[in-house]
Amino acid sequence: MTYDIALIPGDGIGPTVVDAALPLLDDVAATHGFDIDTTRYDWGTERYLEEGAMMPDDGLDALADHDAILLGAVGHPDVPDHVTLNGLLLPIRKGFDQSICKRPAVLFDGVDSPLKGYSGGDIDILVFRENTEGEYADIGGREHVGFENEVAVQSAVYTRRSTERIVRAAFEAATERDGHLTNVTKSNAQAHGMVFWDDIVDEVSEEYPGVEVERLLVDAASMDMVRRPDEFDVVVCSNLFGDILTDVGAIVTGSMGLAPSANIDPGHDHPSMFEPVHGSAFDIMGEGVANPLATVLSGSLMFDTLGEADAAAALWDAVAAQLADESAPRTPDLGGDSTTDAVAADLADRL
Ligand code: NAI
Ligand code: MG
Repeated sequence: MTYDIALIPGDGIGPTVVDAALPLLDDVAATHGFDIDTTRYDWGTERYLEEGAMMPDDGLDALADHDAILLGAVGHPDVPDHVTLNGLLLPIRKGFDQSICKRPAVLFDGVDSPLKGYSGGDIDILVFRENTEGEYADIGGREHVGFENEVAVQSAVYTRRSTERIVRAAFEAATERDGHLTNVTKSNAQAHGMVFWDDIVDEVSEEYPGVEVERLLVDAASMDMVRRPDEFDVVVCSNLFGDILTDVGAIVTGSMGLAPSANIDPGHDHPSMFEPVHGSAFDIMGEGVANPLATVLSGSLMFDTLGEADAAAALWDAVAAQLADESAPRTPDLGGDSTTDAVAADLADRL
């Protein structure tokens, strides 16, 4: 079996972490009886600066035939973030109907949380973020630009199809995990979209009587992910809230450099995309110290989604074993002084 993987290393530390992770994915594939065949797409802000577009017009067509996409990061200090995001990442998520974004936040053994009193295994949260609409719908505009009456309108969109999909995926996961689902909205202040969302959670919950549903407003949820992160199991939320809460989840579990992400098309009509939660981190670009583990763990999510559960577990377990080993190399975000390559080489030995 050969899987055909599209690589989009992207900007900043994206190429560093993708290049570090790729040989490890190859190794694991080989020991589990399959191959990965990769095609590299050098799309991103360098291309934008030279050619005026982050990716070619037919970029999605090129990606469509792959089994999965592994992406590094997008974003560049010389170009506004809304241009880079809307030029590459969001068109793929939306165009490929990747409405389910799955983001684990796990405090591994051997990793320090900035929160007092938590150690390895205490935090294990799985966030399901709606990924194609909500607050990130490209609907709105600006009028009377530069005048005193200048106005900006930005609308959010919640469809029954996509909301049901993300909610159902979260319930499914809660069934397989601890049976606890936290539904995060802001339905006190946003009485249309968010109350609609709550209604769908209520409807779908009838199919999952074994799952206990907790409701939190997003402000309280942000606080509680810091105050009592150990009590969360599965979280479901809209696009914006998921974006924010997964940065909280990443940092309370030790580092942005450890947080992986899966963007899944639940209809299986298009390739799904896997990427670290972090961005292009220009502050550390070129220093060779970016933590590659978020990308390696994203590779694990990719293998799992492709049906290669054993290979996925092997990668995940190797990362966990490395983090638990006090003598193993660590990048500076985890308090060490090792390089990206040293961490990857150590992981290769463990595999
Ligand atoms: P960021 O995630 O790039 O960096 C935040 C902080 O975390 C920085 O201090 C950085 O050094 C650190 N960090 C991130 N990844 C790390 C890693 N692998 N190893 C060690 N340290 C790591 O977020 P920031 O600074 O807000 O955004 C930088 C650029 O990335 C912006 O242009 C932004 O739009 C873009 N961005 C792109 C994302 C994506 O491609 N999915 C997600 C978030 C931001
Ligand atoms: Mg984010």
